[in-house]
Amino acid sequence: MSQSDQFNDDTRRNVTWHSGAVTRRQREVLLGQRGGVIWFTGLSGSGKSTIARALEERLIDEGHLAYVLDGDNVRHGLNADLGFSPDERCENIRRIGEVATLFADCGILTLTAFISPYRDDRQRVRGLCGDDRFVEVYLDVPVATCEARDPKNLYKKARSGELREFTGVNAPYEPPLHPDVRLDTSEQPVAVCVQRVVDYLTGERFLFPPTDPSEGKA
Ligand code: ADX
Repeated sequence: MSQSDQFNDDTRRNVTWHSGAVTRRQREVLLGQRGGVIWFTGLSGSGKSTIARALEERLIDEGHLAYVLDGDNVRHGLNADLGFSPDERCENIRRIGEVATLFADCGILTLTAFISPYRDDRQRVRGLCGDDRFVEVYLDVPVATCEARDPKNLYKKARSGELREFTGVNAPYEPPLHPDVRLDTSEQPVAVCVQRVVDYLTGERFLFPPTDPSEGKA
């Protein structure tokens, strides 16, 4: 939807966008970081949740506010009404993208761990959140490795026909063409993967020491 379409639609629905007096920059100075969405994508069993959780722990240990939004967990609540058809996965990622963007606006380093198999859906979140605040981390792990791990026995169920539309077996996965960070958890230990993302976040100036809280006031 274009901005003018959005405007006309909002006018018709009588909804108005309100801005507060506190700026995002103020929140970021308070937290000593730049808010962003660190978007992990990859097959089930590729290590998205493991790396995201380890990164969350590392960031918190170093005094940064980070929070993981995890596929399986979000599907227990916010997205409990969604299944795994292409349209439902698209809606799943759309909602997560909206939530993650709000978190990033709070100044939080928001780590998301969803298969997010469709390139267009991930691109849409990048557009929503802003190119300079979106970091796509691709867990580039061969399906054979994910299947050998099969921590939830889902590949086995998919191969036997018990589970339909399972990503990598009978549903597609579109790998990122230009991920910001590419990790292979079959080659690199967790700590190395976490360090790679921390290095990227540092290079892109997401992490900075606290300064004067009055800085960034409108
Ligand atoms: S996504 O494709 O819409 O991004 P999401 O990351 O939320 O998926 O959920 C994936 C998790 O749901 C998997 O880790 C797995 O535990 C579970 N799951 C259940 N059914 C499927 C399926 N058909 N395809 C993929 N994952 C499934």
